[in-house]
Parts: sequence; C-alpha cells; structure tokens
Amino acid sequence: MPPRTFNFAVGRTNPETFPVERMQRAASAAIAREFEELTDYPGKLGHPGLRAVMARRESEREGVAVDPDRIALTNGSMQAVTLTAEALTRPGDTVICEEFTYVGTIGAYRSLGIDMQGLPVDGDGMRVDLLEAKLAELGEARRPKFIYALTTYQNPTGATMPVERRRRLIDVAERHGIPIVEDNCYGDVHFDGEKPPALFALSDYAGIVYLCSLSKILAPGMRLGYLYAQPPLFESILARRHDAGANTFAAATVAELYRDDVWELTEELNGHLKVKKNLVVEGLGNELSDVCAWSNPAGGLFVWVRYPTDVDADRLARSAAERGVFFAPGSNFHIDGAPVPYLRLAFGHVPDADIREGIPILARCIREARTSNAAREFEGLFDEVGQDT
Ligand SMILES: Cc1ncc(COP(=O)(O)O)c(C=O)c1O
Repeated sequence: MPPRTFNFAVGRTNPETFPVERMQRAASAAIAREFEELTDYPGKLGHPGLRAVMARRESEREGVAVDPDRIALTNGSMQAVTLTAEALTRPGDTVICEEFTYVGTIGAYRSLGIDMQGLPVDGDGMRVDLLEAKLAELGEARRPKFIYALTTYQNPTGATMPVERRRRLIDVAERHGIPIVEDNCYGDVHFDGEKPPALFALSDYAGIVYLCSLSKILAPGMRLGYLYAQPPLFESILARRHDAGANTFAAATVAELYRDDVWELTEELNGHLKVKKNLVVEGLGNELSDVCAWSNPAGGLFVWVRYPTDVDADRLARSAAERGVFFAPGSNFHIDGAPVPYLRLAFGHVPDADIREGIPILARCIREARTSNAAREFEGLFDEVGQDT
C-alpha cells in the first residue's frame, strides 16, 4: 500500500462533491446546442452565455448592475492577474500589495520585474491605515502603478476587509489616481455571516479592476476566470491579449450548469467545505491551543496558523513530510520570502477523515520541532509581541 498522505498544501476544491452527473448533462447539452460556436474562435471577451451568467451572479451577490460586455473570460483568474500587470506596468515599476499574498501572483509579478511593496495584514486584511504613509515613502519616482488587494478571504490569511476599510482604500487610491486590482478569487466560498460588497459595488471609481474565478467554487481544472473593468482600463488590459480567447467548451458547459440558478450548487458545495474548515479549526483547538494561534475564516479554503518562533521550520517541514503531512510554509506567501513563523492549511481537497487524523500528526510535528519549552510569546494571529513579521 502506498504511504498515507495528508495533503494540506494546495488550495483545491472537493472531489467528493464534484457535480459529476450535472456537469455531464450540461456538457452534453452545450455540445448539442453550440457545436457551431465550437468551430469558431471565442475572441477577447469570450462566451456570451457565461458572461451573462457571471454578470448576473456578480450583480446578485454585490447588489449593483453588472454589464456582461465589461466582463472578459480568462484562462483561470491567473491569466487576468498577469494580463492586468502586463498592461499596467513596465519592468522596475512598483505595485502595492499585502505583505502576505497569493504565491502565484508573487511569481508572476517577479517575472515581470515588478517591485512589490507590501502593507502588513491583520484580521481585517490589508492595513489600509498605512497606505498613505507608504505612498509618501515611495514618492513620485516610485509611485505605484496599482494596488493589488485580496479583499475577501485573503490568501493566505483568510481575512476579510470590512466595508469601512474598503471605502478608505478606494478613497486613497482615487485621490492619488492609482488603480486598484481587487482579486476576489474566493468570493463565493462563503460559510458564515454577511459579506461586505466588492469594491466595484461601493464606488464608481473607474480605476477598479475586479478579478474573479470559478476555480475555487467549482473546479480549477475548468480554467475559467474573468476580469471586469470600466473603459478605458478594460480595453487597455484586453489589448495585451493575444490568445484568441477563453475555452468555449468549458464556458458553454458552465453556463449551462448555472443556467437556472448559480446559488443552489454553490451553497451545497460550501456546506461541505464548511464542515472541513470546522474540522481543521476544532483539531487545532484540541491539539495546539497552548502554543499556536490560527484563523477561523468565514470563507475561503485556508486556515492560517502561527507557531512559536522557536520552531525550526526546516525540521518541521521534514518531519511532517516523513509522516505524510504536507502544508504550505508561510514564507511562500511573503513578498520577500521572509522566514515567518506561519503555515497555511488548505482543507478543500482533503477528506474529512484525513483532516481528523492529519491535524494531530501535524501538531506533534510542531511540538517536536520546537527548540525550547517557552510559553507562547503572542496572543493573536497578527499581534507583534516578540515577532519580526
Ligand atoms: C488569490 C488568488 N488569485 C488567483 C488565483 C488563481 O486561480 P485560477 O487561475 O485557478 O482562477 C488563486 C489560486 O489559488 C488565488 O489564490
């Protein structure tokens, strides 16, 4: 038998709840109806049916009208992350983002030669209160070309920015004429409570570029995401596009899947993901409450864990891997790759039984990787007591 593994490393969805039959029926109907479109290229905007469904979804979720002709389908939202950065920057330009952010974005920005300037993150997301000081510090010469913000269920921390902070972010950006790229990749993976509106729903500022994805709520293998923006930004981003458009077959299938209702399936899948999130949080509570702190996010696919500074991170990763437990080290998400005492647990793809079994193993590894028995030197996930983050 292959060795048992508990893979909390990558943000993926739940194979157990994939809507196999519904997707088969949708694909079959899409082919029968749209085979002629499949013999053509999709173009810069992509499948009109899916754009209409996504416009409806955004409009129902955010409470404002959304024009499907301002939506362009992309090959996952990652293509939108890259296209936007290509359109708005040249090598050496500066972008402001959260100090901890999505590792894929860090990689893309690095390869475009972008100078990433981080703002710290707390339980309410990006520290927007520090934004103006950061702009002053950068000065005119390094004026950021845009601000990249993960406002809802931030990857990796799970934090959601409250509405007042969102308004302040828009206000500062608009006053300085700096575009904001809001990446709402996890927006629909929602478990509890009210969700604040997306930035575009709070303001008419034409500098807001909004990115979203079907990867996290449905399946990353579909490679469907989109960007939504106003002119002239929308056109200037799409001017960078030379791939003849996003996959019509995937788009037509998902448009059919969601034709009558987006939310029923979404809520069904979220119910199962919430169980997994709770299993992680309860497991950590049973095992590590004297030494660690962690998030309990209202949505998204990750729990962010802070461990004591005396943990030897290499030893932790090694001993966990030897016992089949995999996680993403916090340094992966730090814009400078700093060795921070955090790790991220992605729970979406892990069977419930493996979460129950895997968290105690991880907890043992964390304890064994400590080099002292000192009491915990911090209270919360983000406070600075004794920390160098
Ligand atoms: C914040 C964020 N943005 C974008 C992406 C890219 O996702 P996709 O290209 O599958 O839509 C991810 C994937 O993990 C992510 O976490």
